[in-house]
Amino acid sequence: MNTQDAYNRWAESYDTIINKTRDLEQAAAKNSLVNTDFSKVIEIGCGTGKNTVWIAEKASALLAVDFSEEMMNIARQKINSTHVRFRQADITKAWNLDKATLITCSLVVEHIDNIDFIFEQVSTTLENGGCFYLCELHPYKQLQASRARFEYEGQLIQLEYFVHHISDFFAAARKNDLQCLQLREWFDDNDRNTVPRLVSFLFQK
Ligand SMILES: C[S@@+](CC[C@H](N)C(=O)[O-])C[C@H]1O[C@@H](n2cnc3c(N)ncnc32)[C@H](O)[C@@H]1O
Repeated sequence: MNTQDAYNRWAESYDTIINKTRDLEQAAAKNSLVNTDFSKVIEIGCGTGKNTVWIAEKASALLAVDFSEEMMNIARQKINSTHVRFRQADITKAWNLDKATLITCSLVVEHIDNIDFIFEQVSTTLENGGCFYLCELHPYKQLQASRARFEYEGQLIQLEYFVHHISDFFAAARKNDLQCLQLREWFDDNDRNTVPRLVSFLFQK
């Protein structure tokens, strides 16, 4: 099953199943984005709106993008604000979006092979001085067989994934004129004796 179909099926249970990665990422995003400019925000891969809801409260204008209509429909039900727009789009194709001061991307690029393209589109879309927040399942965790997966009609569905190493993110950023302001690792229960679950970056153009 391709990733888009898988997320369309996952949508109805995404918010309610136990998911440490989803929950820790929300804390990571809120924590990492305290000092950023929320005037023109693009959230790529908004899913069911876990972050869209609180970003909308801070943003003057927010465009939330995802290629899964079913995930986005759930996000739409949570938000009723004229300054928030939703767009169905595949972010592996050219974006052609208005300029932004902040782009966020949470738990998406593990499903995308060519991260260079994503960084190129981010760099084109960001205003000078704008920031790109990216958070992913940590590659160490991926290599321990941690995967995006869910049960659907009694079947375990595992999504296609790609391992991107920390150096891959840095190389893609450097190639596209993005400077890393912050690199953080996030642990279950804040226990630094365990393998980190997430890695987050804050880049600036
Ligand atoms: C694990 S969910 C994360 C959703 C949300 N960002 C969160 O943190 O809860 C990944 C999301 O990325 C979206 N996605 C994956 N590949 C995509 C692509 N090529 N274009 C647009 N959206 C994509 C999926 O549809 C899904 O909603």
